[in-house]
Amino acid sequence: MHYTDTQNAYWNANVNNEAAYGADTLSHALEVAPDADFALHTGDFVEVAEVEDEWVDNLDMSQDQNLHLPHAYTPGNHDEYTVLGDEKDLTAFNEHTNVPITNDAMTGGSYYSYDYNGAHFVVLNTNDNKESEDNPEQGAIGKEQMEWAKQDIQEARDNGANWIILAYHKPIYSASYHALQDEDVQVTREEFAKLADELDVDVVLQGHDHNLTRTKSLVYTSDNFSYGEVEDTEKVEKDGVEYHVNPEGVTYIIPNTSGTKAYDAIYMKGADHVHKVRPKLDWMTEDDVELWNGLFDVAKQPDDSPKFDHKHENYRQSQNQNFAVYTVTEDEFLIEFYEMSGNLHEGEERTVELVDSYGIKKDK
Ligand SMILES: [Fe+2]
Ligand SMILES: [Fe+2]
Repeated sequence: MHYTDTQNAYWNANVNNEAAYGADTLSHALEVAPDADFALHTGDFVEVAEVEDEWVDNLDMSQDQNLHLPHAYTPGNHDEYTVLGDEKDLTAFNEHTNVPITNDAMTGGSYYSYDYNGAHFVVLNTNDNKESEDNPEQGAIGKEQMEWAKQDIQEARDNGANWIILAYHKPIYSASYHALQDEDVQVTREEFAKLADELDVDVVLQGHDHNLTRTKSLVYTSDNFSYGEVEDTEKVEKDGVEYHVNPEGVTYIIPNTSGTKAYDAIYMKGADHVHKVRPKLDWMTEDDVELWNGLFDVAKQPDDSPKFDHKHENYRQSQNQNFAVYTVTEDEFLIEFYEMSGNLHEGEERTVELVDSYGIKKDK
């Protein structure tokens, strides 16, 4: 199962306890997928890495669930934040998550890969974007990590991996604003889109933007600002789910949040709305917005708070959380999005429902 951005904040603990919502997300995931082998979290486990209580609360409240579900963690930008914000806490992530540290490289987290049942998982560290000799232009990630990723994915392909799954925090395809507005993501998009396409990555798991996103199968192109183009794939139906047969392209995912901070799916509301809530995106024409929206099968914020009429972000009281369940065999990859709602603190019954299914099939 895949969940993300619990982002447990100490100042929110007595209002909307994100650690409690995170634990509830895991509980529901274990209910609908009791045989899940492990969980993958795509970053922002806490709000401020330096605050020990945030890690402790998250781990404590999910203790029962964690004992049934090993975790692979991905470093998020908040997982290196300090209280004053002027420095980074470079070690907190690996002090709290028992994941490998490839090349001894640790900067607000590590990067690593692992194999499970014929699938190869590559977890990248997008906090490796600080200016250094290894990253003079402050690109998406440092040269050493990029070289390692290319080699690691190629080796996995050569060793006959059935699936390559890439995970990192900052999304290059998302229904909210980070992906198109933030400079640190702009420098990432072309590089990562190319990398994922050229190295035949199948699925990319992302976080950071707190909305529910799944793209269509995308191939790399330099012809438009998105660097993506929808691939026309052959489709077959099985058990009511549409499977895309032998796609060349890549499917990008964000399973909203397991905490309470929600970002709106702004592009779905048209160019005028995008300009109103994100003036920096004033370069987007109606055609640009349409092109971007066309890349996605799922692009939504399940919470329809009226606050989003004027603002896109920092709504920290959402009672809608999501997670994804992946069922992976040698030749089939099933993606299922689940959605929960209900006020946990007022004792409302929390409901969980399947909201989207999508399949990838490889005919060898
Ligand atoms: Fe986040
Ligand atoms: Fe983030």
